[in-house]
Amino acid sequence: MGFLQGFVPTINIISPGRINLIGEHTDYNLGYVLPTAIEKRILLKFQKNGTDTQCRVYSKDFDKGFEFDLKRISRSDNDWENYVLGVLNEITKRTDKVRGFDCVLESDLPLGSGLSSSAALECGMAFGLNELFDLELSKMDIVTLSQIAEHTYVGTQCGIMDQFASVMSEKGHVILLDCRSLEHDLISADLDPYKIIMLNTGVSHSLATSEYNKRKAECEEGVSILKRENPEIKSLRDVSRETLKRFKNEMDPVVYKRCHFIIEENQRVLEMAKALKDNNLEKVGTILYKAHEGISKEYEVSCTESDFLVDYAKENPSVLGARQTGGGFGGCTLNIVHKTGVKNFIDTAIDAYKKEFGRELIAFEASPSGGTAKL
Ligand code: GLA
Repeated sequence: MGFLQGFVPTINIISPGRINLIGEHTDYNLGYVLPTAIEKRILLKFQKNGTDTQCRVYSKDFDKGFEFDLKRISRSDNDWENYVLGVLNEITKRTDKVRGFDCVLESDLPLGSGLSSSAALECGMAFGLNELFDLELSKMDIVTLSQIAEHTYVGTQCGIMDQFASVMSEKGHVILLDCRSLEHDLISADLDPYKIIMLNTGVSHSLATSEYNKRKAECEEGVSILKRENPEIKSLRDVSRETLKRFKNEMDPVVYKRCHFIIEENQRVLEMAKALKDNNLEKVGTILYKAHEGISKEYEVSCTESDFLVDYAKENPSVLGARQTGGGFGGCTLNIVHKTGVKNFIDTAIDAYKKEFGRELIAFEASPSGGTAKL
């Protein structure tokens, strides 16, 4: 793009992806989650360009850019542009201080891998513009406006976990977040002598957005039935195992399965938080395997490749537990692996995956890291 030659950034922002130790799809059911940012991130470089309303954004990884006018923001046909445009749409509703700017993006965060590259881009964009134009947005403003941008411009009715983790994480910790009250606790994620090893299936399901929204609707259908006798129930967060059981015959079996998963998964977050505090790593592993079973059989957001890798992990004595992480239908599995067994686990998993699917598996270690920041 034309502007790149004279580009002299004045603000550089790093915005991380995230993993979620446990608590999948519980966020939009107003339950608990346990995510953290990781060291894979997007670097966003900004300069003011002296115009009133002309903005230019260029992605080095895609070698593509686009331009837009602050006075005429609308949805684009190119998915990635909507992450940027959605954020600008929200920011310009809140302030008139934004002026023309240029931004260059560079990333080592794999896209569509369940590591929330979308939230990293949204939050990094909002964070950078906040710094560049002194918008006086709080970190929480950045989190919530980025979540709304995803609803309105991208079309995924996501919960708050990804944006919260991207902005609020602290190095060496996972965040126990209550998605209703937004109260949160930092819990040490020191798993030594174990490491968090991610296996990226390379599968990025094209139905992820529509299936995601469908799961959300199924949970809401469950709540509307449960509410009939219990008006105090506002979300699945308020439902006990016993209450759900009593309504089994009144629900479509699929809706029942979805609700059952969420109620169990929410409990698993609290059990996991305790297991981490007690340094009970065997328990951490057991909870992960249990969660994957639910992800695969009850919530049905796994895929053949993720199921294969989790089963493969079970055969390896160096692995305490594994599950698919993120929104689902592909992405990465998260594995807790003894440090002496990491190389063997990765090498053999790559071979087995190639043999089974004829595809490359990419493995990396995830370290709990800090949230979006200015460099
Ligand atoms: C996606 C969404 C999150 C959350 C996860 C599943 O990453 O953006 O809000 O629902 O899926 O846990």
